[in-house]
Amino acid sequence: MSDQTTEPEVEGAEADLPDSANAVEPASQLSGKGSSWGADGSGLHRRITRAFGDATGEDNIAGNGPQPAVPAARGSVDPYAALKTRIHRACISDLGPVLFGFGRGDASEDLVEHVRALVVDYLEREPTPLARQERKHLIEAITDDILGYGPLEPFLKDDSVTEVMVNGFDEIFIERNGRISPTAAAFVDEEHLRRVIDKIVSQVGRRIDESSPMVDARLPDGSRVNAVVPPLSLDGPALTIRKFTSSAFDIEDLYTLGTLTTQAGRFLSACVAGRLNILISGGSGAGKTTLMNALSRAIGDDERIITVEDAAELKLQQRHVVRLESRPPNIEGRGEVRIRELVRNALRMRPDRIIVGEVRGAETLDMLQAMNTGHEGSLTTIHANSPRDGLNRTEMLVLTSGVDIPIRALREQIAWAFDLVIHVTRLVSGERRVSHITEVTGAEGEMVQLQDIFVARPPDEDEIGPATRLLSPLEWTGLRPHFMTKLAAHNVIVPPGVFAGPTVVGVKRAQARR
Ligand SMILES: Nc1ncnc2c1ncn2[C@@H]1O[C@H](COP(=O)(O)OP(=O)(O)OP(=O)(O)O)[C@@H](O)[C@H]1O
Ligand SMILES: [Mg+2]
Repeated sequence: MSDQTTEPEVEGAEADLPDSANAVEPASQLSGKGSSWGADGSGLHRRITRAFGDATGEDNIAGNGPQPAVPAARGSVDPYAALKTRIHRACISDLGPVLFGFGRGDASEDLVEHVRALVVDYLEREPTPLARQERKHLIEAITDDILGYGPLEPFLKDDSVTEVMVNGFDEIFIERNGRISPTAAAFVDEEHLRRVIDKIVSQVGRRIDESSPMVDARLPDGSRVNAVVPPLSLDGPALTIRKFTSSAFDIEDLYTLGTLTTQAGRFLSACVAGRLNILISGGSGAGKTTLMNALSRAIGDDERIITVEDAAELKLQQRHVVRLESRPPNIEGRGEVRIRELVRNALRMRPDRIIVGEVRGAETLDMLQAMNTGHEGSLTTIHANSPRDGLNRTEMLVLTSGVDIPIRALREQIAWAFDLVIHVTRLVSGERRVSHITEVTGAEGEMVQLQDIFVARPPDEDEIGPATRLLSPLEWTGLRPHFMTKLAAHNVIVPPGVFAGPTVVGVKRAQARR
């Protein structure tokens, strides 16, 4: 990780720039170095020009009076904030809009060297005395800023950071080991953040502005990006990046992390191998996709798998996999392909299994129908707070897609479609825990019947102490599922030892006797 995470970043912020700044020609540069770009009238050009002209402190806009290099808003803690901003802007002005067509990873070695040389050149003209180490840090930080994603760069490079959240230019949060924490890093100002957002979304052929102020996209490296800009986001642009992790957790990793026990994991692997239809429920970022990916290892190599996702995140190990990804409308609002169309198309591709990354709309009914018409072994995830809520949300998604189907018939469809619901929870400690493995046993009257097979129980009152865990590891409830014959029909036998040990039901009975 680069030093930028530990070193407090630029906290300075400019007040709103006066409109008159828009009309100003590019100012001349630091130390008399000439600008290589003229006023071409492009939006990006004007924005950078405006920012440059305002903030260098060297050249002032006629009539605006002298401006501080970086006014210290909310207490500037980076002693080099003003210096960084000055050099950053001078370099951007020298290099021109060519810089905004790529991310750091795409920049050629020549360009990286060119930018670094320019930064060194500007630094040498600075009267401020700098120690060697400081100079090195500054060169890295400013080059990152110019070529990459500015203050986000160290977090994007750091594999231990899984999520980066920007709430306006001066607030960056990160998630590490499942825990969210604020950072000292910040963008120079709102324009700086907008430039980085523009750069990110333009890389994937999207546009973000007042007329389309929201973008959800997958970066070429697989990371998921969501950006929202004013007027929708009230406190400046908001950017969320879920980083692509090249090494997805496998089931052994999940055992180590305490997400589920080996006993429960072996049971679930048998359920996947035995072609049960499984719904994984859980809150946002609870680890649903990660669990689905880990469980997918149990799918046989001889099966034809078709995955349908909004943003391709699954990393299946099998050979015979066809991956489909939905497509948002293009800049003209055309060409959208929704998950629903892909699920319908997948059914015509002779799948053995269909895996839908997440159901959140009209595709839910198609998925249910697929499960009920012989495409066994299908997997999907849903945002929900419990297994029961997962099924209720499934029902709601079908109803809100405008399908006219009697509630009883719909619930029967749901009960027949799913064999198992796995619920995953994100604990306040940042840990993820499978809290329920619940069988869908059928429908009685209008009710879908559920039966917990494994549960992670909250501590009992008399167990609460400093070392008490938020949720116990998964324990067998003592109930055997009804789908054992279905597993056996697929030549799968639940390994010995899975239905063993003190059962939750047994524990409760023992407690009741005390
Ligand atoms: N068992 C786990 N233990 C620790 N961290 C995990 C675990 N599972 C997932 N994570 C981390 O949590 C983040 C979210 O994981 P994942 O994408 O699987 O969640 P999700 O529930 O599918 O999210 P979404 O609701 O956005 O679809 C990832 O950064 C991942 O590395
Ligand atoms: Mg997911």
